[in-house]
Amino acid sequence: MTSAAAPQTDAVILVGGKGTRLRPLTLSAPKPMLPTAGVPFLVHLLARIREAGIKHVVLGTSFKAEVFEEHFADGSDFGLEIEYVTESEPLGTGGGIRNVLPKLRGDNIMVFNGDVLGGTDLGAVLDTHVRNEADVTMHLVRVGDPRAFGCVPTDADGRVTAFLEKTQDPPTDQINAGCYVFRREIIEQIPAGRPVSVEREVFPALLTEGKRVFGHVDAAYWRDMGTPEDFVRGSADLVRGIAPSPALEGARGESLVHPSASIGPGALLIGGTVVGRGAEIGAGARLDGAVVFDGARIEAGAVIERTIIGFGVRVGPRALIRDGVIGDGADVGARCELLRGARVWPGVKLPDGGIRFSTDV
Ligand code: GTP
Repeated sequence: MTSAAAPQTDAVILVGGKGTRLRPLTLSAPKPMLPTAGVPFLVHLLARIREAGIKHVVLGTSFKAEVFEEHFADGSDFGLEIEYVTESEPLGTGGGIRNVLPKLRGDNIMVFNGDVLGGTDLGAVLDTHVRNEADVTMHLVRVGDPRAFGCVPTDADGRVTAFLEKTQDPPTDQINAGCYVFRREIIEQIPAGRPVSVEREVFPALLTEGKRVFGHVDAAYWRDMGTPEDFVRGSADLVRGIAPSPALEGARGESLVHPSASIGPGALLIGGTVVGRGAEIGAGARLDGAVVFDGARIEAGAVIERTIIGFGVRVGPRALIRDGVIGDGADVGARCELLRGARVWPGVKLPDGGIRFSTDV
């Protein structure tokens, strides 16, 4: 659904975070640019913004700021007009929004965390905002376990009554989904020139001041891609068609393989596995929910499960990696076993059989 307000609405995407939870992959690339189902993650979000009828996008950058402009330039290749505002020191989520103010044109501004994979109807969120004459409208999503998120109860009219960051005793299953519509004046009131958290400072203050803060609640697909587990799941969900994205065309299935990649005889690619440009998968390898970046080489008989394999990595024959993150250019020797959250730093070389979780070699 396209809202009538969309063409006059600016989109702001916060992409300045360091992405520490996804290290070591985020040592070389900012989190929103990590390859996700064949394209940089941000391409999925930009496609949704364009589909909603919004044309003008401002990226609030800081960490590795130059990477974004090099890739997206003025946005015309993506059917958008994209501008950039860089924080020399990270200003936090609220400070990042305040910092892009000089670029904003409209009265309503749709703000996105740059690491959320979602399927919500953005036009409907905007309509909720306009209908309620809200100061801020927050997209709220219902989740099974709200404790790790910002929990946001609303009253019968949809008005936000509290903002409870990561509470052990959540009164509702509605959480802050990292997508908001702001009235321009609210952004003007955020303190300039210092770090401000929108979650910890701006939203609680708006409630104290009695501002009109509303929730738009739905149960659409939603995943914060900030951790390796979520990144792997979100990527697999895109490949399998569980997560919607207007940036992906054609049939979805168990795997997505770049046409330039080579797959050896008997290799099994399942669980939403992605194989990037020029990657090589050896004979009889088994990849289940694997994310293999460009130029990586998985040798014969290796098993990779729910793991991100960085650019140019080599995984030796019959190695096993489960729930791991392998940094760019690392070399995992034959028969190594890396389990349960193992992270290999870029360029590290593990000798054949050098790390095992069992004694049979
Ligand atoms: P972690 O270090 O793993 O927590 O990741 P992060 O740095 O990305 O932080 P978080 O996931 O909480 O950030 C949510 C969104 O806000 C992401 O899209 C970040 O890129 C963005 N963000 C976080 N801090 C800043 C900041 O200081 N400035 C800007 N412009 N964006 C930010």
